[in-house]
Amino acid sequence: MSSPLLFSLYEQASVGCGGAPSLWTHPLDDRLQVNSLDRWRNVAQTAEEANLDALFFADVLGLYDVYGGSSDAAVGWAVEAPANDPFMYVPALAALTERLAFVITASTTYEHPFSMARRFGTLDHLSNGRIGWNIVTSYLSSAARNFGMDEMLKHADRYARADEFMDVFYKLLEGSWAQDAVIGSKEDRLYARPGAVHPIRHDGEHFRVEGPSLTSPSPQRTPTLFQAGWSPRGREFAAKHAEVILLPKKDPQEIAVGLADIQARALAVGRPAGEVRSMALARIVTARTAGEAQEKYQELQRNYHVEAQLVSYAGDTGIDLSRYADNEPLTTTSNGLTSYVVKGSPGDAPLTAGDVRRKFADVTRGTDLLFIGTPGDVARQIQEHSETSGLDGYMINPLVSPGSLNDFAELVVPELAKRGLYDTEPRSGTLRSRLRTDGADLLPVSAHGATFRQT
Ligand SMILES: Cc1cc2nc3c(=O)[nH]c(=O)nc-3n(C[C@H](O)[C@H](O)[C@H](O)COP(=O)(O)O)c2cc1C
Repeated sequence: MSSPLLFSLYEQASVGCGGAPSLWTHPLDDRLQVNSLDRWRNVAQTAEEANLDALFFADVLGLYDVYGGSSDAAVGWAVEAPANDPFMYVPALAALTERLAFVITASTTYEHPFSMARRFGTLDHLSNGRIGWNIVTSYLSSAARNFGMDEMLKHADRYARADEFMDVFYKLLEGSWAQDAVIGSKEDRLYARPGAVHPIRHDGEHFRVEGPSLTSPSPQRTPTLFQAGWSPRGREFAAKHAEVILLPKKDPQEIAVGLADIQARALAVGRPAGEVRSMALARIVTARTAGEAQEKYQELQRNYHVEAQLVSYAGDTGIDLSRYADNEPLTTTSNGLTSYVVKGSPGDAPLTAGDVRRKFADVTRGTDLLFIGTPGDVARQIQEHSETSGLDGYMINPLVSPGSLNDFAELVVPELAKRGLYDTEPRSGTLRSRLRTDGADLLPVSAHGATFRQT
């Protein structure tokens, strides 16, 4: 029997969720209700009932304003817009659920490690450790301008800042309070042992932080760390910090090669095999018969609009196709999401704007991992994909929300369970304990973050 895979739900506090641009126009989609807690209660409760590991919130800190040189198309098509703050959704949703974990995307480029440690420390307490952080360095120049910068930091500088950010974060959450610092005795009139709470006095290139952390040690201390680096520098970062890596690729062989590289990098920094789990984003279109699944796919295609995808591509990569005629070769250089740039095969003629437009005419954009068919077909495809790629799990990107989640929960979960690929036993405890085979709540001693603990 196979061992169960990890499954999470990928969402964004937005109408036009990343990965499904323009599908909010589908008649069965309710993402226009983004501002309603009732909508999110339904999503979170369905995810919890289906025993998903986590509800993941993607996030951006600016509008997609590269396409046509303004944000008009992005607000018109709701491309990752509006972008409400996931930190505000999660406490409410944690109160409305008991077991479901939440992963919040937050940026090391535009946040400060002191306030970030405080927010995550507080949230980890209030949710009993059901919290993860998707560490991102951000890729929109509009975000840079929202935070007082003329332009975005270069890719390498974003990662350098992120590395120092992590050290400050760990010093605060892992190091500044001893694990047993809190006494909490009314009799002794002693909350915490003074000698067990220390300043960190960090003085680095990007941050000066005295500390200590304003929050006491929480169930996980450091939230469970997710990251999606794919460039060589991104992989190095992932190998050092990530407990779960997210992959922006669909081809199982390419994923297997990338995973082996990241695992080798993790081993090289002293992390034993199995410390870095992996997930890829997956779209699922399913119905009781193959014919109905095809009809659903056609319905998605009818509600997919390529212009919204071009807006998304322009924001992700900085490459604005509105400026190119169909027969013009495209630039492939980017300071944004370099790994999202569409490139031809080596040796072929450079791709033209027309080639890329044609690729994007399909709802899967030519790039997305899609499992389609009857529930049995989908479960088989997932099994085959995971066996070849070596992935530990999938993050379900609902093309129609909440319809795709409902389909997954009702139709696909039982089929996956039959194959031993889905754990239907309700799981509780911290997010980290559920993802680790040893069930530990805290970072393992092999983690870079653990080196900052008080001895
Ligand atoms: C599943 C997945 C989700 C992502 N979510 C976000 C996000 O919400 N916000 C963000 O700024 N970047 C997000 N990214 C982009 C990554 O953080 C990263 O920049 C990207 O994978 C490229 O890797 P690189 O930075 O090493 O070039 C996501 C990537 C993947 C694969």
